[in-house]
Amino acid sequence: MLLGLLPGDDSVFPPDALGAYRGATSAACSDSTGARSLALEASLMTGRHAASLAHLARARRVTPAGAQTMSKAAPRFVEGAFPTAVTRAQGCHVWTVDGTEMIDWGMACAAVALGYAHPVVNDAIRRQLARGTTASLPYALEAEVSEALLAVLPWTAGDGMVRWVSTGSEATEAAVRVARIVTGRDLVLSIGYHSWFATWMAQKPVRPGVPDVFGMVLWDLPYNDLATLDDVLSRGPTKQEPHGHRLAAIIIEPTLLDPPAPGYLEGLRERCDRLGALLIFDEIVTGFRWHLGGAAAYFGIRPDLACYGKALGNGVPVACLVGRREVMQEAGVLISGTMGGNGVGLAAAQAVLELYQRDPVIRMLWLTGEKFQAGFNERAKVSGVPVEIVGYPVHPVIRFTEHDETWRRLAMSVFLQETAARGVLFHPAGNNSSFAHTQEDIDRSLDACEAAFRVIQAAGDDLASVLKGKPMEPSLIRVADQGHGGAR
Ligand SMILES: Cc1ncc(COP(=O)(O)O)c(C=O)c1O
Repeated sequence: MLLGLLPGDDSVFPPDALGAYRGATSAACSDSTGARSLALEASLMTGRHAASLAHLARARRVTPAGAQTMSKAAPRFVEGAFPTAVTRAQGCHVWTVDGTEMIDWGMACAAVALGYAHPVVNDAIRRQLARGTTASLPYALEAEVSEALLAVLPWTAGDGMVRWVSTGSEATEAAVRVARIVTGRDLVLSIGYHSWFATWMAQKPVRPGVPDVFGMVLWDLPYNDLATLDDVLSRGPTKQEPHGHRLAAIIIEPTLLDPPAPGYLEGLRERCDRLGALLIFDEIVTGFRWHLGGAAAYFGIRPDLACYGKALGNGVPVACLVGRREVMQEAGVLISGTMGGNGVGLAAAQAVLELYQRDPVIRMLWLTGEKFQAGFNERAKVSGVPVEIVGYPVHPVIRFTEHDETWRRLAMSVFLQETAARGVLFHPAGNNSSFAHTQEDIDRSLDACEAAFRVIQAAGDDLASVLKGKPMEPSLIRVADQGHGGAR
């Protein structure tokens, strides 16, 4: 059962934390959205998120930006009217520092699909803890989990290999390294988001600390656009040296918000084959969510290399690079991490692989998402608020559709604030269904959405008047509006 929200109690708010918060957020008073400082001050005084604000002030003293993941940082939500940290997570519920229990639709930026603290995964981790976590030689478990993983990835055609790392960023980094070794070429074309590492940031609009030189060997390309790809590939310093001859790989999130256009993924495959380059699927989000065999199985396209992470460990840091044997042989050199193949990650991945084959996990992710999307869009329509939920049911995105950017950002802020006040946590960049969401979770969440729509509808153009915190800020690393809500 969801706990009610705590009544306002300013006494739990340490005076210095309030001071720090006021100082830190004075910029909000002149925010371009016009949200008034009065609203902000009012929210501080209610004390509803007093513990959250105290925590944030404390975290900001020792943590740049106050969070390790950009998508989890307070400015991405409604600072002052939204929880800032959790103390516990179980199933699809989280318990915030404010003492409230909430239904979570962010699911750790898609890192958790089975539900938080899944008992089978936890048991597997506990058993491994007793055997140690990292050793001086590889754990024998490594080969066992590699075999189990390859068995659910039909595109590897019984002849694949695996390299284990801890994060998706390492996996994508390893993928381009292998592609460059195998082809002896330098140019990589990138579609979607793959990591915060310098390799990937060279063409992002905001990239402090990333030397421009990275931009010589990795270019971003628009999704679903073969014409631009062909144009890039055919140009070059001279007619005899088209960029296509330098191409080591195309790396892509196989789908973004919209499905790939008919023939698009096939087109990428064909161009890679023709040019002797590798096709890399970044399945960090799509893997173990769209299909047990990932997007490669879902769309029926064979990549040369694929990266998995997030749901593979159900929240435990484990990721990997998978590829055909002749390509992966090259991944034996110069890809080397102390924590690659650590026992905890492997044990978690092993349990996840077993559970996905034992229970109808993927089917439930789709069903839950479909029910939620249908209910959301129905209630949005009745409310008259220009809002919709789009994208795949397993990874739905809420978006406001009319008025200008400022209104839409305020509307999303009010939506986040009002649903949070009713015990539901949404993420502005993307949400994720899980095997743990029940019909009751769906119904309660839809009721919270409906109530939020009423507040937005009643406020009309004066959304700032009902906002009790700072309006949410968009991600620094915008991949275009098509992007998934990952760690960026
Ligand atoms: C598609 C995609 N690839 C790679 C990554 C990087 O993974 P990680 O944050 O585990 O390093 C992310 C993170 O959000 C992602 O969404």
